[in-house]
Amino acid sequence: MRILGIAGSVRRGSHNRRLLRAAGDSLPSGAQLVEWEGLGGLPIFDEDMELDPPVPVQDFLDEIERADAILIATPEYNASVPGGLKNALDWASRPFPENVLKDKPAAVIGASTGLFGAVWAQAEVRKALKASGAHVLENELPVGLADGAFDVDGSLADPELDSRLGDLLGD
Ligand code: FNR
Repeated sequence: MRILGIAGSVRRGSHNRRLLRAAGDSLPSGAQLVEWEGLGGLPIFDEDMELDPPVPVQDFLDEIERADAILIATPEYNASVPGGLKNALDWASRPFPENVLKDKPAAVIGASTGLFGAVWAQAEVRKALKASGAHVLENELPVGLADGAFDVDGSLADPELDSRLGDLLGD
């Protein structure tokens, strides 16, 4: 099983990229996480181009199509989804309804440096994915206080969160 991992941050040292990697290390056997690196290279969504998208967008759509499922690790910006990630989801949602997200299994996790672990952003990403036709897990994984949330080996320091991550990936 090929899972496309999408981190909603392009920042060096992103906690959400670390979270995605922790998820990759917790996958059941037979599943493989492939990290998508193209978020920062996508142009802004343009409906005039959706039927003949630019190469970086087409590459992204092909990656989603090849994947059996997608896993998104989102930061929260101003109580919402970071614009770059929303832009990527908007490209992936078109042309509607025969888009690459249609019927695609998807799950969302998230980390923030605040207390609440990007729960609002995770809820909004789930909403956008559902609106695009994906099959979205309702579970969330709120990794708060992300500066101290990871052990040196990259795993989640909190055993309860670590076990929730394993449960979510098992679903
Ligand atoms: C933030 N951050 C933040 N955190 C949060 O819990 N709720 C929020 O609404 C916001 N808003 C916000 C806006 C902007 C513009 C920035 C840059 C940051 C803090 C955020 O959680 C923190 O920067 C994370 O480390 C971002 O994720 P990555 O880049 O580490 O993956």
